[in-house]
Amino acid sequence: MSAPPAVDKPPAGPDRLAAFALRVWTYKQGEVVSLMVHLGDRLGLYRAMAGQGATTAHGLAARTELHERWVLEWLRCQAAAGLVETTDGEVFELSPEGAEVLADEDGSLWFAAGAFLGSVAPPDQVDRLAEAFRTGRGLSYDDRGPWGAHSAERTLAPWTRHALVSRALPALDGVWARLEGGARVADVGCGAGVALVAMAAAFPASSFEGFDPSRYAIDRARARLSESGLTNVTLRLAGAGDLPDRPTYDFILTLDCVHDMPRPADAIAAIRRAIRADGTWLIKDIRAGATWGDNQRNPMLAMMYGTSVAACMSSALSEPGGAGLGTLGFHRELAEAMCREAGFTRFVVHDLDDPANLYYEVRP
Ligand SMILES: C[S@@+](CC[C@H](N)C(=O)[O-])C[C@H]1O[C@@H](n2cnc3c(N)ncnc32)[C@H](O)[C@@H]1O
Repeated sequence: MSAPPAVDKPPAGPDRLAAFALRVWTYKQGEVVSLMVHLGDRLGLYRAMAGQGATTAHGLAARTELHERWVLEWLRCQAAAGLVETTDGEVFELSPEGAEVLADEDGSLWFAAGAFLGSVAPPDQVDRLAEAFRTGRGLSYDDRGPWGAHSAERTLAPWTRHALVSRALPALDGVWARLEGGARVADVGCGAGVALVAMAAAFPASSFEGFDPSRYAIDRARARLSESGLTNVTLRLAGAGDLPDRPTYDFILTLDCVHDMPRPADAIAAIRRAIRADGTWLIKDIRAGATWGDNQRNPMLAMMYGTSVAACMSSALSEPGGAGLGTLGFHRELAEAMCREAGFTRFVVHDLDDPANLYYEVRP
């Protein structure tokens, strides 16, 4: 029997060890580059490069009023990471795509730099997470201090701002017309109120209520609301379980939050009681399959599981007996089964060209 071609073999011995170590160090590089992305966003470096063509560290430092030597080292890091372009390590350029993803917070749903907060969790939260592995009890969004609400807001706001009203609402059967005519709407798990403000501005005849048990999130939502000057939004420091127990709402939304809830079945039952017979519930949740194999094509799978430990599953286990669904846990099959179990009869899946999420249009 002939041996398989050497080229198909994984590296053996020391090569294999070196390849594995390189894989591990690649994640360390990701951690350090993440810090640099945060600094680039925070210091306005990407914004100062966007649409400006080629620049030197001297020029960028002058434009941002920062020290040239620091800017040069940062630029070389960015170029080494493939985020800015250079041929000589002296003259640098941010591509149009780079400008959109790293600088265009107000204009693009692809804006990602806001998700880079300098670290995934401050040191005191890392200690509490380690303890959670021992106790089994996770951290609610507010156990993470203002950080929990802040990181969710900066990560999720670009889609909400640029796609909820323009892309998601028109895809729902009859919802747009009802909102124009004057509907009563609840955003459950409303976080920092980005969706509420976007919808309330677009549909002045409708009234909007935001529910969230996080005081940091509701504080952020209050600030956003008062800046907006809108008068058709009210906010409640309350969870899904506090929804009225009679048919009240024409339209309910849960955006990226059912998998975070310690008691998702109770939340879904509460939504079923609170929705009108002809109402619509829009669920946005992570695009995930039911099995490990189903998720293998997700290029961000490791990040998803890590986010689950750091935030989503942790929140979903923050009460005794929590369901602990976590980031990938409220997958399409489970979402449909739980909705039908609660008495919803219609369940339509929308893709909306979102690589990270699916959208479920659910009706009684
Ligand atoms: C990832 S954030 C999403 C926030 C917002 N929907 C968005 O898209 O930006 C998840 C939110 O779910 C909220 N949450 C957790 N448990 C909840 C519950 N039982 N009822 C309502 N909201 C809850 C958290 O406080 C947090 O604000």
